Amino acid sequence: MIKKWLAQFWDDVRTSADSGLLGVARFVGLLYGPIDRNLRIDEAWRRALRYRLAEHVGWRHALGGITYLLLIVLVVTGVLLAFYYRPSVEEAYPSVQHIVSEVSFGWLVRDLHVWCANLIVIVALAHMARVFFEASYKPPREMNWIVGLALLGVVLAFGATGYLLPWDQWAYWTVTEVLDAVAMVPLLGGLIAGAIRGDPIASGATLSRFFALHVIVLPWITLALLSYHFTLIRRRGLAPPMSADAGGRKWRLSGMWTEEDQEKGRPFFPNHFLRSLTVAVLTLAIAITLAILFPRPVGDPANPYVLPDELVSTWVPVDVSLALIRLTGLWGFAAFSILGLSLVLLPIFDRRPERGLRQRPVAVALGLIFYVGFVAAWIAGQQIRSVPPTARPQPEVIGEGAEPGSELPLPEPGPTPLVPNSEEPGREP
Ligand code: HEM
Repeated sequence: MIKKWLAQFWDDVRTSADSGLLGVARFVGLLYGPIDRNLRIDEAWRRALRYRLAEHVGWRHALGGITYLLLIVLVVTGVLLAFYYRPSVEEAYPSVQHIVSEVSFGWLVRDLHVWCANLIVIVALAHMARVFFEASYKPPREMNWIVGLALLGVVLAFGATGYLLPWDQWAYWTVTEVLDAVAMVPLLGGLIAGAIRGDPIASGATLSRFFALHVIVLPWITLALLSYHFTLIRRRGLAPPMSADAGGRKWRLSGMWTEEDQEKGRPFFPNHFLRSLTVAVLTLAIAITLAILFPRPVGDPANPYVLPDELVSTWVPVDVSLALIRLTGLWGFAAFSILGLSLVLLPIFDRRPERGLRQRPVAVALGLIFYVGFVAAWIAGQQIRSVPPTARPQPEVIGEGAEPGSELPLPEPGPTPLVPNSEEPGREP
């Protein structure tokens, strides 16, 4: 049926297309033969279409795929933004203003980038919750759990380094406050904060470091980790259903899903392919709708000597961190971080084959505390709008005898146009 339809389609193209275009198509076809003989693209394609997934694999298994899709959107929009963004104290802020108000669809690309940076944190945590509560981290998948956590760390590092790039008051003062909190951590805190900042206060050196990490270092780490994550999934297969041990069919410690089970499963194409496509379209629709309805405004240009009237947060982990630091103090923040880090060690201690929720009360309780705490801190963090006055730096911290602004070129004094994106001139509907 599909073959017949394709033949008809090709006939129609031949009768209607320009001969030059057909020539190009034939030339590409001629080239494709030798390439395929070496790379076996057709065979790999057919094998991928024949691939079967176990019967229990359902919608919840799409969460990893959505995380991956969001990562792709972030890379594409990030590259487009990098065409116009300029990473210096003098040019960063005006270049972002230029992107959102003058570049065609620049506002959409930027807001999509900001929204996907939020969505990826939420979806990655939901994917992690699925893996956690179904105990899919148990042997032989413990390595993939650790690689996944490293990926989560990279996703957070992407957001943290990207946060400063607009170089507006909100970005500047949020990063200042977070780095001040890092500096207060005993032993290595001061050293780490100093190395990241590159100056006594956040400055051009900080911006350069954040930009280099954001566009050069982190993408390469992500590529390596993702390749490993996907290789392990292919090698070990997805974890068997949780009910495998409840129904008397003991889940083997090897945990491998047998060939026989696999054969009984549903084919990837069209079943899982259509499911993935539906989820992908929905995710993109949600991200675009959010970007259009709730654009991230641009604040006043960064000024190290003036506190902003309010601190608007635009990234979920910033809400969570600010709430933890302000409401529970540094100890509360440290305790929550240790709880998060204890998840790294989970597969090392929790190696029993049992996977039911009731059979793992400690792990399930820890997981619930982490997720409930995260959501509570997120909600509380959205109410926080002020900067603590203690964070305000004095000009002399820059260096003895330095003129305020001599090392940190400051923007022109006076109010900056803080216009909601939708009202900016040149913004297309
Ligand atoms: C950029 C972030 C990530 C991407 C793109 C990603 C992608 C995926 C995909 C596509 C799958 C297969 C389908 C599924 O189970 O959903 C998967 C499985 C898995 N992921 Fe992730 N993931 C990410 C982060 C994480 C995190 C944060 C963890 C946990 C700490 C994790 C642990 C796992 C494990 C253990 C599996 C195997 C699950 C099973 O066998 O049922 N991943 N991941």
